[in-house]
Amino acid sequence: MINLLVLKETLESEKRVALVPDEIKKYSDIGFKVTIEKDAGIKSDFLNEDYKKQNANISQNIKESIKESDIIIKVQKPEPSIIKEIKAGTILIGLLSPKKNSSENTLYNKKKISAFALENIPRITRAQDKDVLSSQSNLAGYKAVLDAAYEYSKSFPMMMTAAGTIMPAKVLVLGTGVAGLQAIATAKRLGAVVSAYDVRLAAKEEVESLGAKFIVFDEEVLKKSQTEGGYAKEMSAGYKKKQEKALEESIPENNIIICTALIPNKPAPRLISKKIIEKMKPGSVIVDLAVETGGNAELSEVDKIVKHKGVKIIAYSNYPSRIPGDSSTLFSRNVFNFIKILIDNENKKIKINLEDEIIVKTLISHQGKLMNL
Ligand code: NAI
Repeated sequence: MINLLVLKETLESEKRVALVPDEIKKYSDIGFKVTIEKDAGIKSDFLNEDYKKQNANISQNIKESIKESDIIIKVQKPEPSIIKEIKAGTILIGLLSPKKNSSENTLYNKKKISAFALENIPRITRAQDKDVLSSQSNLAGYKAVLDAAYEYSKSFPMMMTAAGTIMPAKVLVLGTGVAGLQAIATAKRLGAVVSAYDVRLAAKEEVESLGAKFIVFDEEVLKKSQTEGGYAKEMSAGYKKKQEKALEESIPENNIIICTALIPNKPAPRLISKKIIEKMKPGSVIVDLAVETGGNAELSEVDKIVKHKGVKIIAYSNYPSRIPGDSSTLFSRNVFNFIKILIDNENKKIKINLEDEIIVKTLISHQGKLMNL
């Protein structure tokens, strides 16, 4: 029997939970005993009773439950006071921000915890069903458009009424990865006229298949702008100048801008300067998903809606937590698929296979060694 413990999130702003009731049966079927910290699901509308109905235990003494567990899951890193209670050899899985949290990393190492940082999951085919960042970005792209629609004082679809016609909103999506493509699909469903921009030419076909227009400034440069892993490369200074000029023309023609441009492990590319914002029509809305890495827009402020000359700039840092029910469901499924690779099918025991690429890249602390930081 493997003991799995689900810890409650401690940050006020984190409404997700790492396991939803509907996923518990999958664990029971492979011989796990599941324990949930009391009220862990309450902020995403999963009640203690819902977990009990699925035969999970609700922990009455969290310190004891931590000591008894073989695997602990949590959305975000645990507090140091919790880490100190974890016994050596326990597996900890979550979004552990390994590059930011050196004190926690030191603690995992000191306590000989096997810690897995889910943000390190490689974007390879076999890892897709475990890829937490993608599942969460998808929902973030959706919610970003709903937030824009909420803050916009006009309608998204064209409306023909007896009092005359209302024109549709024009939406421009910058960056068409996971979040951007979902933003395009959502804005289309709401009836907006949508265009999109990305530095990877490979994105053109996906954008067009969603019925949006793909903006290209320099096709020859874009043909070479993707790395072998499929990510965007940092663009040359010459291209950036051209990009700035073209965006200066196209951004003010739109009412809503959804920013999702990202280059892995680099500050977010700056695509919207204050000068461009000042050229936008009053009432326009920018949603900057890239705010945590510096923002695609110059005036973005973390977790604030900034209003500048009639333009609203929305920049929430934890978008998935703004849609916590479904984010938690997808997170739970990703985590279950991840945990499956840590279980030996024959004897149903934990086995950390250090030859598995997904395990090797996500493991940040194991048997007293730190890695992938
Ligand atoms: P992704 O890697 O799938 O997509 C990023 C896209 O940006 C890629 O298609 C890339 O080619 C493009 N890009 C890079 N440089 C560009 C440039 N100069 N101009 C236009 N496009 C450019 O990433 P994903 O998962 O879609 O996430 C997008 C952003 O949203 C990231 O910054 C991520 O951290 C953030 N995010 C923020 C959330 C929040 O709560 N604020 C939640 C989820 C994602």
